[in-house]
Amino acid sequence: MAADTVDYSTLIPNNVGLADDQKLLRALEKWYPKYLEWWSDMGPTGFIAETPFQEAEIWLRTAVSVEKGGWAKFDYVKMPEYRWGILLAPPEEGRTIPFGEHKGEPAWQEVPGAYRAMFRRLIVIQGDTEPASVEQQRFLGSTAPSFYDMRNLFQVNVEEGRHLWAMVYLLQRYFGRDGREEAEELLRRRSGDPDRPRMLGAFNEETPDWLSFFLFTYFTDRDGKMQLEALAQSGFDPLSRTCRFMLAEEAHHMFVGATGVGRIVNRTVEAMRDAGIDDPHDTERIRSLGVIDLPLILRKLNFHFSLTLDLFGAEESTNAASAFHSGVKGRYHETSIDDDHQLVGSTYPVTKHVEGEFRTVEVPALNALNARLRDDYVEDCAGGLRRWNRYISEAGIDFELRLPHIAFHREVGEFASLHVTPEGEFLDAATWNSRRASYLPVEDDKIFIEELMQQVTTPGEFASWIAPPKKGIGGKPVEFEYVQIPGTV
Ligand SMILES: [Fe+2]
Ligand SMILES: [Fe+2]
Repeated sequence: MAADTVDYSTLIPNNVGLADDQKLLRALEKWYPKYLEWWSDMGPTGFIAETPFQEAEIWLRTAVSVEKGGWAKFDYVKMPEYRWGILLAPPEEGRTIPFGEHKGEPAWQEVPGAYRAMFRRLIVIQGDTEPASVEQQRFLGSTAPSFYDMRNLFQVNVEEGRHLWAMVYLLQRYFGRDGREEAEELLRRRSGDPDRPRMLGAFNEETPDWLSFFLFTYFTDRDGKMQLEALAQSGFDPLSRTCRFMLAEEAHHMFVGATGVGRIVNRTVEAMRDAGIDDPHDTERIRSLGVIDLPLILRKLNFHFSLTLDLFGAEESTNAASAFHSGVKGRYHETSIDDDHQLVGSTYPVTKHVEGEFRTVEVPALNALNARLRDDYVEDCAGGLRRWNRYISEAGIDFELRLPHIAFHREVGEFASLHVTPEGEFLDAATWNSRRASYLPVEDDKIFIEELMQQVTTPGEFASWIAPPKKGIGGKPVEFEYVQIPGTV
C-alpha cells in the first residue's frame, strides 16, 4: 500500500502497514479500550446538560491521507467514535541525518541501542503533553461562546488524542516491553493530580475559561510546535515522519488560538468605541458592556507566556547538547540554517542574569540549544500580537499587548525566582509582590471572567465578549450547526 493512503480496514486507521504486523496490531488493540476509558473519564464532559453528551454529533475533520493538499475530510462524528489513527508523513527518499556527529549517514529506521533511553524519554515527555491538554480543557464545552468555538475545542481535543496515539505507536513498535509500560503510564497520569501529575508544569495548570484556552492554544501549543519541529529533524526516521504529520494538525490549534484572542480583542475595542470609551483602564464601564478589558487580556497573556517559557527547560543543558550531538533532536528549521550542523567549537549568545543586570553571554552553542529554541519560539509568537495590536490601534485606542520580558515570572532556568517586571526591570520581592495585581490575573479577574462565560448554543450566535469569525470551517458558513445535540434534530 502506498504510504500516502490510509488503511481504514483495521480498527485503527493507519499508513504504517498494521495489518501486516499482527503482534503490534494486537498490542495496540489491547491499548485501545484503555484509551477509550481514559477518554470517557478525562475527555470533554458536561457540555450538554440534559442528554448523553457522548452522543452529540460534531462537525470534525478526520485525516484520510497524509498528502499536503486535501488530507482531511469533514463530517459529523460522535467523539468516542472518532477514527484516531496512526499517520506518518510520507518517507523522504534517501533521507540522511541532518545534524550532529552522524550527519550525512542514512536516517535510522530502527532506534540505535546507544540512544534508546534518550529517545524513549523524549517520546514519553512529548506524549505526556497530549492527553494532559485534553484533561485541562475538559470542562470548557459547558461555557462555549458558540457552536463554532465548541467545535474547534473538540477538534483540538480529538487531535491531541491522536497525537497521544502517534507517540504510543512509536513506543509500542520500537521499544518493546518498556514501551508498552510507558504507553499504559501515559493513560494513568492526570493533569493537576498531586499524586500522579503530568510531567511538565504548564500541563498541570488549569485552563478554566475560554480566554485561557485561546492563550493556551496560541502560546502552549506553539511550544508543542517548536518541540515537534525539532523532533521532526531527528535521525530516527519514524519519529521524524510522525512529527511532520502532527505539525500539519498543530497548525489548526494555533489558528484557533490566534483568531480566538483576536476576536476577543476585536469585540472589546468595538464595544468601547460604540460606548465612546477611550480609556482602556476604565475597567468598570468596559466590563459592564459584557466584554473583557484589554489590561486583563494582557495579564492573562503574561501568565500563559511566562509559564510556557518554562517548558523550554534550562537555557544551558548538557542533555540538549547530547541529544543534538547524537542526532536525536535537531534545531528549529535545522536544514535551512547556514552552518556546519555540528556546532562543535561554535558559540551562541544567551541572555543571563549577572550581578543584578541582564547580559548577553556567548556560551558553547551545543549547550545553548534550549535557549536557542526558546528564542525561535519568542520570534514565532510575534505575528499574532502584531495583528491583535492592529485591531486596537485601528479603533483609536491607546494600548499595546506586549510579550513580557523573558525573565518575568519564571520558575525554570536562569531567571527562576527573580523578581522582574514584564518590562524587564529588577525589583525586590516585596515591591514585586505589591504590584503583582498589575502583572498577573487576580481573584477579581477570575470571578469576572467566570460570570461572563455562559454557553451559547444557538447556531450563528456568539457570546457578548467575542466577535464572530470572518468565516466558518470545513466548508460551512458561520451559522452552521457545528454541534448537533441528539433529540433536537
Ligand atoms: Fe499535540
Ligand atoms: Fe496542539
